[in-house]
Amino acid sequence: MSGFGSQFAPSVMRADHVDGRWSEPMSVASDQLVLHPASHVLHYASSCFEGLKAFRGASGGAHLFRPDMHIQRLQNSARYLCLPVPDADMVMAMLRQVVSEHENLLPEYPGALYLRPLLFASDINIGSAGHASSNAILLVMASPVGDYFGGQDKTLRLFVETEHARTTPDFGQVKTGGNYAAALQHVLRARREQACDQVLFCPNDDVQETGAANFFLLHDRTLITKHLDGSILPGVTRDSLLQVAADLGLQVEQRALSVAELLEKAPEGEAFLSGTAAVITAVGELVSHGDTIVVGNGGVGGQTRSLRETLVQIQSGCSDAHRAWLVECCTN
Ligand SMILES: Cc1ncc(COP(=O)(O)O)c(C=O)c1O
Repeated sequence: MSGFGSQFAPSVMRADHVDGRWSEPMSVASDQLVLHPASHVLHYASSCFEGLKAFRGASGGAHLFRPDMHIQRLQNSARYLCLPVPDADMVMAMLRQVVSEHENLLPEYPGALYLRPLLFASDINIGSAGHASSNAILLVMASPVGDYFGGQDKTLRLFVETEHARTTPDFGQVKTGGNYAAALQHVLRARREQACDQVLFCPNDDVQETGAANFFLLHDRTLITKHLDGSILPGVTRDSLLQVAADLGLQVEQRALSVAELLEKAPEGEAFLSGTAAVITAVGELVSHGDTIVVGNGGVGGQTRSLRETLVQIQSGCSDAHRAWLVECCTN
C-alpha cells in the first residue's frame, strides 16, 4: 500500500444541500466531481472536513471509532464557516454506508479504512465573498491505510515557533483547509532551515499544537496539554488519551503551558503528538532559539508506550474498556 491517504475506494457517498434541504445521500464514482470555477469554495475557502477510522473487529465485522465526536466537530466547523450544517443522523448513515460498500478494502488491524467527510460551499457566484452559500456538497470518501505503527519507535524533532500562530484564536477549533494553508510556510521553513519534522505553534508564549496534531507533555506522572479555548482543534484522540491516562493512574492537567515550563520539564519528561492517523507519535527533540533540547532520553518513553498500547487495544476491540467508543457499522 502506498503512502497514507493516496489510495481511494472507487465510490464516495454524496449529499447535496439545495433549496434549503439535503438530498438523499447517494453512492457516486470517486473521480466524477464537476465544479464550476466560480464555486464559492474555490474563492472563499468555505470548506471543512473530518478524519476518522473504521477498524476490523475480532469477529470480522467493522466498527467506527467515536464517530459521534467527529460528526459534532464537523457540525461545529460548518457553523463557524456559515455552511449548511448537516444532520448528524445523515452523516452517520453516510459513514456506515461507505464502510459497508468498501468493506473488502478494510485491512486487518492495525490497518484501517480512513474516512474523510468533506463539506464545501457550491454557490456559483464570484461576487459572494460577503454571503453564505446556500448550496453545499457533502462527500464521504474512504481510503484504506496500512500499519501506521510500523513507525512506533520513530521520534519527531519539533520546532518551537513563538513568532507565528497557526491560525486565529477562535479558528483553531475549526477543521478547515485555510488553517493548514496558513501553517504550511512555517512548517516548510522549519523543515528546510532547522531539519525539523513539525512545528509546535506557541504564539504569545502559549504552547498550543502542531500543524496537524495535538501536543502533550508528560512529567512526573502528570499529563499536561492545552485546555480547549477555541485556539486548538479538540482532537478526538486527545480526548480519548486524557481518559485513558486517568484510567492508568496518571494525573491529567488541561491548562496553559508556557514555553519556559515546557523547556524546563522536557529533559526529564516525555512528549508526544496525538491524532487519528498515527494515534501517538513521540517527540524526541525540541528546537528553540537555535538550541536543541532532548526530551527524556530522546527515544519513545515508557508512559507514552503504555498510553498508545492501551488506546490501540481499545480501538481494535481487544479491550473491554470504553466499549461505547466503538460503533458497529457492519457485521460479518
Ligand atoms: C490541527 C490538528 N490538531 C489535532 C488533530 C488531531 O485530531 P484527532 O485526534 O481528532 O484526529 C488534527 C488531526 O485531525 C489536526 O489536524
